[in-house]
Amino acid sequence: MEGPGRTLILGVETSCDETAAALVTEEGEIRSSVVSSQAELHARYGGVVPEVASRRHLELVTPVIREALAEADAGLQDVDRIAVTRGPGLIGALLVGLAAAKAVAWSRRLPLVPVDHLDGHVASLYLQPDPLDPPFLCLLASGGHTMLLDVRSHTERELLGSTLDDAAGEAFDKGARLLGLGYPGGREIDRLAREGDPSAYVFPVARVPGLDFSFSGLKTALLYAVRELDADELEARRSNLAASYQHAIVRALVERVREAAEQTGREQVAIVGGVAANSALRAALPDAAAAPLALCTDNAAMIASAARWIDAVPYPKYLALDAYASR
Ligand code: KG4
Ligand code: ZN
Repeated sequence: MEGPGRTLILGVETSCDETAAALVTEEGEIRSSVVSSQAELHARYGGVVPEVASRRHLELVTPVIREALAEADAGLQDVDRIAVTRGPGLIGALLVGLAAAKAVAWSRRLPLVPVDHLDGHVASLYLQPDPLDPPFLCLLASGGHTMLLDVRSHTERELLGSTLDDAAGEAFDKGARLLGLGYPGGREIDRLAREGDPSAYVFPVARVPGLDFSFSGLKTALLYAVRELDADELEARRSNLAASYQHAIVRALVERVREAAEQTGREQVAIVGGVAANSALRAALPDAAAAPLALCTDNAAMIASAARWIDAVPYPKYLALDAYASR
């Protein structure tokens, strides 16, 4: 059964529009991490089309797993267990990854580790070469979620606050759409904002009680600003609008992080998720720990990383496991 050669965790992630597979060691060293983004496929629709995503995952999941094995110079005989995202995310997309992971695990009689996507994002911080040790205060900001977590240990965390409406990444994506930028919009706004003046416009961010967030009003404010401009004016002011809009999102996130740090007394702060790739956010929180950019957006190395602290489901019990769209 478990020979000395079996030391790698194969991670599989298909919760949204990235088909990803990775091989990670027990110590958190990334041996390979392959991410095949479908962004271009969905760009013409201005967002992810769930059915299109599922079909594409189906085409890509096996080649991506093969590529991850090849890049690590490994075979399935080197794999100790399979880690896979079980949710939250697009249900059809999740099912493709889960079915693929089950099939690979079953064929080799390996155990399977179901991983929550959000635990995966947090576990991006536990990878080599600079793994972070809990406890820390964690801002998780992605396309689907925005939350503040008190991470007490590798297995214990408390939710301190979350968004009441749009996620921060969603605010970036919707703003980018209003500005006529491509999808996904966060990176586009980030790039354009470097040429703009963040104080050109004042976009108000709603202050909600506690440590929660609210971003839905922001896109409406941008909509009103954009509506007043004709095509030429929009062209001339696009970078200022992008910089000001980004500034409003970043300021709201940073304020909440500071308040949460004060309330919890946590000295170490970390940022994870796609929005943690934002250059203005990283600059505004210079002391915060953050994974390299490629590990902020969806990937499978973080899923394999998280699996190190989750009990594996033995063969063949996991065949009955289901995916979940939301928590
Ligand atoms: O974590 P992630 O890849 O997927 C989810 O779990 O949702 O996050 C994707 C989100 C998208 O909304 C995208 O626009 C945003 O992260 N994002 C960024 C940047 N790169 C990706 N937002 C702001 N600045 C960036 N550089
Ligand atoms: Zn994610």
